[in-house]
Amino acid sequence: MNLSIIILAAGLGSRMRSELPKVLHPLANKPLIRHVVDGALALQPHSLHVVYGHGGDQVRATLSEFSINWVHQAEQLGTGHAVAQAMPDIIDDSMVLVLCGDVPLITAATLEDLCSKADKDSLGILTVELDNPQGYGRIVRNAAGEVERIVEEKDADATIKQIKEVNSGIFLIPANHLRRWLSSLNNDNAQGEYYLTDIVSLAVAENMPIFTSSAHNVYEVMGINNRVQLATLERQYQKQQAHKLMLDYGVTLHDPSRIDIRGSVEAGHDVVIDVNVIFEGDIKLGNKVKIGSNCVIRNATIGDGVEILTNCVIEENVVIGDNCTIGPLARLRPGTVLAENVKIGNFVEMKKTTVAKGSKINHLSYIGDTEIGSEVNIGAGTITCNYDGTNKHKTIIGDKAFIGSDTQLIAPVTVGAGATIGAGSTISRDTPDDTLTLSRSPQNSVPGWQRPIKK
Ligand code: UD1
Ligand code: CA
Repeated sequence: MNLSIIILAAGLGSRMRSELPKVLHPLANKPLIRHVVDGALALQPHSLHVVYGHGGDQVRATLSEFSINWVHQAEQLGTGHAVAQAMPDIIDDSMVLVLCGDVPLITAATLEDLCSKADKDSLGILTVELDNPQGYGRIVRNAAGEVERIVEEKDADATIKQIKEVNSGIFLIPANHLRRWLSSLNNDNAQGEYYLTDIVSLAVAENMPIFTSSAHNVYEVMGINNRVQLATLERQYQKQQAHKLMLDYGVTLHDPSRIDIRGSVEAGHDVVIDVNVIFEGDIKLGNKVKIGSNCVIRNATIGDGVEILTNCVIEENVVIGDNCTIGPLARLRPGTVLAENVKIGNFVEMKKTTVAKGSKINHLSYIGDTEIGSEVNIGAGTITCNYDGTNKHKTIIGDKAFIGSDTQLIAPVTVGAGATIGAGSTISRDTPDDTLTLSRSPQNSVPGWQRPIKK
């Protein structure tokens, strides 16, 4: 079967009350239309056409990595008119699958079901029964149960409004017939639009068989017109992601309704995740990882047995080796790479820093552009002064070094292996291995000194 997919995305989306084109609003951090494109591409179509109108440049830029035939619909005269704009680029001998850019949770599995029933002389409609069908086109069937026509909410009388089976807006139509039907659509209806849905009665008039296929769950066909619907589908999507983590990986979620996955998470066995954790980008969690409440983790690889305590922020491209402990309240910025058994404690900020195994930075430190050896102990309040106001410089700390509390390391600087730095030092030159270095002004006590007395 030669499959051509058309995604309709020209609508204004005025009910979003936004400057951003509707189909670019994010669901789980990914534009709505990107969800649809991903589903479409899973079917390996012969061609993919996107009908755009409002905010076209932005929509095109967002999808620039895909091979898409862009079709401009200058005026939004209805879904039938929108499909007609794409038809000149579609060959007669193909099946046309029509999708909507604002129906993001459609799955490849449901679309494959629909496509598996394809026939070059019949029309397929994806439908679903909704408890509250309000707003959707209703599927009207005859006494024999055959589809007769689709009636839009705005054109429906009270009896038709009772029908719970609705049009998802997704159709599978032989291109040659579609071309013929589109040319005879009119806009004689409540909205003055050329409705794609009217091809159903045209097919019926020609005695063309019509089949329906149903979606696996109702959320797959829900369209987004306003922020409430966007939020509803976001929650539904997050629920699905949470269930996947529990069922596919055996992750324990203390509350599946309080986790957000805006990307993908792969997990080993016996991972435990506390409430309010947000994952963004691609995340890999090893076996027995424990993540405390309120952590935000983005594009990170986390080894076996790692424990991340409450309120940590783990940013882009961070690698955490096996059995590390992080937090509470630590911030690992991009380029932080920790080997195994490293301990990072509270109020520690790290950036572009590698730490070899068994080292500890337990309290209140800023460590940036640094290479730390193994078994190093960095005292509370240590700061790498990596920035001179213009350039960033590197700090190197050798194996088994001991940095006393409240030390400033003025980069570029190297602390030798086994070196000890006295607390409160400002280190601006390299320090030798296995030696105590300190820069501390002598301590004085003044005998006989008295506090001033209040006059
Ligand atoms: C449409 C269907 C309705 C179905 C519902 C499912 C028609 C006439 N009605 O109604 O039966 O239940 O979807 O969600 O088809 N669009 C364009 N150009 C246009 C008009 C629309 O590209 O000129 C795009 C929109 O951006 C949107 C899609 O087509 O992605 C659907 O249009 P919309 O106006 O939302 O149709 P509904 O009234 O929801
Ligand atoms: Ca809609």
